[in-house]
Amino acid sequence: MFKRFFENVIKPKDNFGGRLMLKSMNKGHEKLAGWGRSFLQVNPGDRVLDLGCGGGRNIEYFLSKTDRVYGLDYSKTSVEVASNLNKEAIRDGRCQILEGHAKKIPFADGSMDLVTAFETIYFWNPLDECFREIYRVLKEDGQFFICNEAASPDQENIKKWVDMLKFEVYLPEDLTIRLSKIGFSCQYHVDKKGQLAFLARKQGKK
Ligand SMILES: C[S@@+](CC[C@H](N)C(=O)[O-])C[C@H]1O[C@@H](n2cnc3c(N)ncnc32)[C@H](O)[C@@H]1O
Repeated sequence: MFKRFFENVIKPKDNFGGRLMLKSMNKGHEKLAGWGRSFLQVNPGDRVLDLGCGGGRNIEYFLSKTDRVYGLDYSKTSVEVASNLNKEAIRDGRCQILEGHAKKIPFADGSMDLVTAFETIYFWNPLDECFREIYRVLKEDGQFFICNEAASPDQENIKKWVDMLKFEVYLPEDLTIRLSKIGFSCQYHVDKKGQLAFLARKQGKK
C-alpha cells in the first residue's frame, strides 16, 4: 500500500492517492523548485513549457513572469490538478495544459523560449527521444532546464526511492554527453545537498 501510494510520483493515478500526491508535490517540491528557478531569467512575452508539470506549481510561478505558459504531462490527473490550480490563467488565454508524453510534444518547431523539467526526467523513456523533441520545439538559443533533487543514484536522499520505485537518476556528465550530441551547449551546478540545476542551450543543428 505504501509503495502503491508512492508510485503516484511516476504517473499520478486517477484516484484520491494520485490527487493527494500532486498536492503534496506542489508543496514539498517548492523549496527545490525555488532554488532551481533562481537560475532562470524569464522575460515578459517568453513562451515557457513545463514538461511533467505535475500539480502545476511551476506553471503558476512562470505565469507571474510571462503571459505564455504551457504545461504537458502524461497523467490526466496531473493535467486536471494543474489546470485547476491555474484555471484563471487558462480562462484568460495565458496558459494551456495538455496531456501527452515528452517524446511527442504537441507544439510547433521553434516555438518555445524555455522548456523546463522539474523532478521528472527520471521517468522519461526513451530519454534521448524526449531530448530531441525538446530541441525541436525550442527556438534557436532557447534553453532547456532540468532541476533534480539528486545528481547521482548513490545519493542518500534518493537511494531508497530508486530501490523501491526503480527509476533512473542521471549523472550531470551523462546528461552533458546526451544533450551535446543533439546540439545543446550545457552547464550545470550541483549544490552541497546534491541538488542538480542543469541548463542546456540550443545551438545550431549538428
Ligand atoms: C515527480 S512528479 C514532478 C511533478 C512536478 N514537476 C514537480 O516538480 O512537482 C513527475 C511528473 O512527471 C510526469 N511524467 C513522467 N514521465 C513523463 C513523460 N514521459 N511525459 C510527460 N510527463 C511525464 C508524471 O506524470 C508526474 O506528473
